[in-house]
Amino acid sequence: MQALQDRSGVKRYLVTLRVNGDDRTAVVKANTTLTNLLRDEFDLTGTKKGCELGDCGSCTVLLDGKPVDSCMVLAVEADGREVTTIEGVAANGRLDALQESFVNHGAVQCGYCTPGMILSAKALLTRNPCPTEPEIREAIGGNLCRCTGYVHIVEAVKAVAEGRVSPEDEPGVEWMKG
Ligand code: FES
Ligand code: FES
Repeated sequence: MQALQDRSGVKRYLVTLRVNGDDRTAVVKANTTLTNLLRDEFDLTGTKKGCELGDCGSCTVLLDGKPVDSCMVLAVEADGREVTTIEGVAANGRLDALQESFVNHGAVQCGYCTPGMILSAKALLTRNPCPTEPEIREAIGGNLCRCTGYVHIVEAVKAVAEGRVSPEDEPGVEWMKG
């Protein structure tokens, strides 16, 4: 990573990372967080800022496939690594199965927690395609939701794990249209 100095003598760093499949570079300060790099430099505002203390999970992204609170990762630490944000989840104009399931199950209310929830759930299903309900709850345990009470979120993740993205395929499960 190349270190530079601006006119006032402040050190900055040239970082290169792969974001949603594209190589991106930026010049950042030593204390720039990955959240701010994504939002302010790359305009990827789907990554939300909440507590900025590592407590709420609204800033969750995947770093080399693992969910992290991007407010707790420095941009310089992400140099040379692979980042997936919520903008990189849909492909070819189609929602990912998890996104579709969240919509179908009414698992989105204000939506502020949703990008982080989806990315935590995505990481879970990648490493464990058939999680139990406690495993789902544990995987999203760092993602706080003030609106939904979590029931529909857990159902939405469970439905994808069981291949039931469409709510019509869910006898006995209560859901609301998003
Ligand atoms: S904003 Fe990062 S954990 Fe809350
Ligand atoms: S839907 Fe509002 S915080 Fe989760």
